[in-house]
Amino acid sequence: MDIVEAIRLRKSIRGFKRDPVPKEVLREVFDIATRAPSAMNTQPWEITVVAGEVLDKIRERNVEMLRSGATLYPGLESKPYEGVYRQRQVDLAIQIFQLMGIAREDKEKRAEWMQRGLRFFDAPAGIILSADKSLTQSSTLIDIGSLLQTICLAALDYGLGTCIHDQGLMFPDIVREIAGIPQSKRLIMCIAIGYPDWDFPANKLETKRDPVENLTTWCGFD
Ligand SMILES: Cc1cc2nc3c(=O)[nH]c(=O)nc-3n(C[C@H](O)[C@H](O)[C@H](O)COP(=O)(O)O)c2cc1C
Repeated sequence: MDIVEAIRLRKSIRGFKRDPVPKEVLREVFDIATRAPSAMNTQPWEITVVAGEVLDKIRERNVEMLRSGATLYPGLESKPYEGVYRQRQVDLAIQIFQLMGIAREDKEKRAEWMQRGLRFFDAPAGIILSADKSLTQSSTLIDIGSLLQTICLAALDYGLGTCIHDQGLMFPDIVREIAGIPQSKRLIMCIAIGYPDWDFPANKLETKRDPVENLTTWCGFD
């Protein structure tokens, strides 16, 4: 697949077919994607892949925790978005809820949508990216971000869809316990991965981007 085509084609997939993703395919995706750049070639990423009963257990326990009213993202400072960033967040939610036929006042369906994220969007596999806690350099997050996008692009060549998300990590201790990730590792982000179900309404979403003119300053050009 042409690189520009892949970049343009990639979108977040939030509904998947049940077909499992072969381990060998995922291995190939990681083999390609770990060509991503990292500061000083430190390659600070660690990948944990969950599927089958392990992923089902994470889904079940995540939803149980949510229903119990447990604190989301414990220990993480999270500042709400403001201004244009908040507006974009709201626009995204409106678009998704419209496609999914979820009314603004329908608390039950909104809660169900939230649970879907905690269930890794019912994908057949989940990828959890972590890094050693000794890596406090800010470049570590940049490096892992670069791996995230490269995994999503490489996956396209295998007919796979992805959704980068942090909802699966709202209760990190659940994921740690079930996937066996020690406290010495920082859980950074996860990806739901599988074969897209193109009939799933939210997969029809085409998000917009601000035009380049609005965000680019050209210096030293005519
Ligand atoms: C760091 C990061 C975290 C994200 N977390 C979530 C999430 O928790 N739930 C979700 O549905 N999508 C999540 N997304 C997907 C974004 O909503 C999506 O990338 C954005 O709306 C642009 O849409 P596109 O990926 O279809 O181009 C996340 C994406 C990134 C990069």
